[in-house]
Amino acid sequence: MIDLHCHILPNIDDGAKSIDEAISLVALAADQGVSRMVATPHIHLGIYDNNLQSINVAYRVLCEALALTSIDVQVRAAAEVRISPEIMQFIELQQLPFLGCYQQKDVLLLELPSSHIPSGTDKLINWLLAKDVLPMIAHPERNRELQTHPDRIKPFVQSGCLLQLTAASLIGDMGPSPQQLSEYLLKKKLYSIVASDCHSLNRRPPKIALAYDAITTLVDEDYAYLLTNATPYSISNSLFEPSSL
Ligand SMILES: [Fe+2]
Repeated sequence: MIDLHCHILPNIDDGAKSIDEAISLVALAADQGVSRMVATPHIHLGIYDNNLQSINVAYRVLCEALALTSIDVQVRAAAEVRISPEIMQFIELQQLPFLGCYQQKDVLLLELPSSHIPSGTDKLINWLLAKDVLPMIAHPERNRELQTHPDRIKPFVQSGCLLQLTAASLIGDMGPSPQQLSEYLLKKKLYSIVASDCHSLNRRPPKIALAYDAITTLVDEDYAYLLTNATPYSISNSLFEPSSL
């Protein structure tokens, strides 16, 4: 399986607090059958002011520590980018990392606030698509406006955005509302991938294997395989080519 949303870079956001915890998270993912992970630390202006350089420094720290272990997981780095008008400037300056490439577009993991869908979101998405950037909406099931108005997901889907399910939402770790919306969106087959969004050993550890079983029960095993293997593989494959190191 492949995990395209996880906070395993140490001391760079609210994810792993030490290199030991980062290694433990990767080991836990490996135990579940995860073979590739793309670390996605927050880029959230004023909260987590990460950039390509800070992410690369933390990524190198993790790679060096992983090389001293026998854990058989390939790791790369991108980011989870909080929606803001400044994204346009960062894209123009080529200052945002992508999850990979899909449908001839660069895939950007885009985070909405948990409370609502900001006005102007549709315009930003259209602007990104015109720049050949394909937004992947991180865990839409955790957005409270979407929880009360699930139909408001339609413009995202119709514009071509990808949707990422967080495993913990489906399993019920985040409460009943995210679980209900994730089941609703799964039954409509609107998600493109499932990811752990793991942060720490205590707070949201990686649980993709449990999500695989839940998707198999709720929909079928073909869809579970698509969300955990085939589609995340296609999206991130360019990151894992030797030339991209
Ligand atoms: Fe995240």
